[in-house]
Amino acid sequence: MYRSRTCGELRIEHVGESVTLAGWVQRSRDKGAMLWVDLRDRYGITQLFFNEEGGSAELMEKARRLGREFVVQATGKVIERVSKNDKMPTGEVEIQVETLAVLNPSKLPPFTIEDDTDGGEELRMQYRYLDLRRRPVQEKLRLRNKVALETRKYLDSEDFLDVETPVLIKSTPEGARDFVVPSRMNEGQFYALPQSPQTFKQLLMVSGFDRYYQIVKCFRDEDLRADRQPEFTQIDCEMAFVEQEDVLNTFEGLVRHLFREVRGIELEESFPRMTYEEAMERFGSDKPDMRFGMEFVNLNDTAKGKGFNVFDSAEVVLAINVEDCAVYTRKQLDAITDWVKRPQIGAKGLVYVKCNEDGSFKSSVDKFYSQDDLKEWAAAAKAKPGDLMLVLSGDMDSTRKQMNELRLHMGNELGLRNPNEFKPLWVVDFPLLEWDEETNRFHAMHHPFTSPKPEDEHLLDKEPGKVRANAYDLAMNGVELGGGSIRIHDRGVQSRMFDLLGFTKEEAEAQFGFLMSAFEYGAPPHGGLAFGLDRLVATMGGSESIRDYIAFPKNNSGRDVMIDAPSPLNEEQLDELGIHLAHA
Ligand code: AMO
Repeated sequence: MYRSRTCGELRIEHVGESVTLAGWVQRSRDKGAMLWVDLRDRYGITQLFFNEEGGSAELMEKARRLGREFVVQATGKVIERVSKNDKMPTGEVEIQVETLAVLNPSKLPPFTIEDDTDGGEELRMQYRYLDLRRRPVQEKLRLRNKVALETRKYLDSEDFLDVETPVLIKSTPEGARDFVVPSRMNEGQFYALPQSPQTFKQLLMVSGFDRYYQIVKCFRDEDLRADRQPEFTQIDCEMAFVEQEDVLNTFEGLVRHLFREVRGIELEESFPRMTYEEAMERFGSDKPDMRFGMEFVNLNDTAKGKGFNVFDSAEVVLAINVEDCAVYTRKQLDAITDWVKRPQIGAKGLVYVKCNEDGSFKSSVDKFYSQDDLKEWAAAAKAKPGDLMLVLSGDMDSTRKQMNELRLHMGNELGLRNPNEFKPLWVVDFPLLEWDEETNRFHAMHHPFTSPKPEDEHLLDKEPGKVRANAYDLAMNGVELGGGSIRIHDRGVQSRMFDLLGFTKEEAEAQFGFLMSAFEYGAPPHGGLAFGLDRLVATMGGSESIRDYIAFPKNNSGRDVMIDAPSPLNEEQLDELGIHLAHA
């Protein structure tokens, strides 16, 4: 038996007990005749105490030679500490060590393995197995485990069946590039890794499984961001004989269950809903952060036609009202202006209007607008004395995007995005199709299996861009946690959809023949959704970065710097696969 107790469980009531602990040396303090070692394992830290009376000169010598991260086993009696540490759960006791065994020494770690570390991101990722010894990192993975466990409990109680689907498949179009795997047995042919199990879960509905779920890895070759990894995990679900309302209710239930069981938080009884159109108009985003206001105000009526060419020539003039910020200095306003002008945001400039306490206004466009004009803006934006209006203009799409960024930026600056507040929002009625300027054709906004709203079907021929879909997303705190739709289950409609997306009959048949043919054998009406588990857990943990919640994440260039992947294949492997590298 390596140990009788863990490093996290001993308390004052255990005084007198003989115990054996095993773990890692976090640090030691040597006071000559006495020596202390903090011993760490997954469960906590317990202080080991060595002195000459309790042990021997030999034991003291051994303890003195312990270095950081040595793996040791110590046996001794639990005693009450003279100076207690109320910050540690085990802080009232220590172990008077009688025997000590070094199970494995350690090289000096490249960074300190403590709650606060001196290791930079790159170094910690290279030695991720050491980074993972740190308590804050372990807590994040524990949270992830709890969320996954509670998800299984809830879905099981709702009759969902966990079914595994294959990883070596044919491309599923979810809007990203595929990762592909060459087939040795079928030279010149490739599998694609699933961007999601979308088509398989639909086939499971055709098979009569009725309710399916899977906590499953998905793979997408796309540009990475704080909330995007090339491989990530979905809580993927599908239900037969349902309408949108059934799906929303079921998964609202899941999210409420998770917050209650995992965080002890009661979310609102019924999650608010907003159409895509309204979300774009009020917040310029399909995943608005509802923790704070600063809604967009359209100033077209009041700001255009006064000789200010920038606004006159713009498609839209949008303002947000930042409460109580008229006190911003010139320097602060310049900093915000520089921020929106960065290439990532792309605004050409920023107009501000300070609503002074005396009812007057001071703006960066005083030359063009009278006090009465600015008063009208303030009325439109419901700005009161002491507030600051920020105004952007340009074409509709980019101005909305920029203003959304600015709104979130101001929310951050003013501390309005409290990580311990959770505001869910269903965004519904997404457009079915999205026009892509680059390829000059329509793309499915969600994916090609999403059904059009029956009341909009008549628009499919003449104005396909106006057709709304039975598609929905769950947003929370400015993050898209999940999304799904009611599916097409009719061969004719599905094939029509592929037409609209620019597939020839032959292409559609080659890529999705299996699905369309399944639809001819009694496909039930069905729908579902998938949550991004990484995003859900990160949001529940109050963080915007999903990387911390993944044990072995990839960096922004899609590399695993610990195992050094991706890496070249040797000639022999390439030969076997029949692959010749063009740029080798
Ligand atoms: P969608 O593409 O919206 O839908 O994906 C569902 C959810 O997965 C998460 N997600 C990601 N998380 C981390 N890194 C990524 N690269 C990444 N991409 C997506 C998001 C997103 O909301 N098959 C459909 C679901 C359905 O229709 O049922 C699908 O995959 O949280």
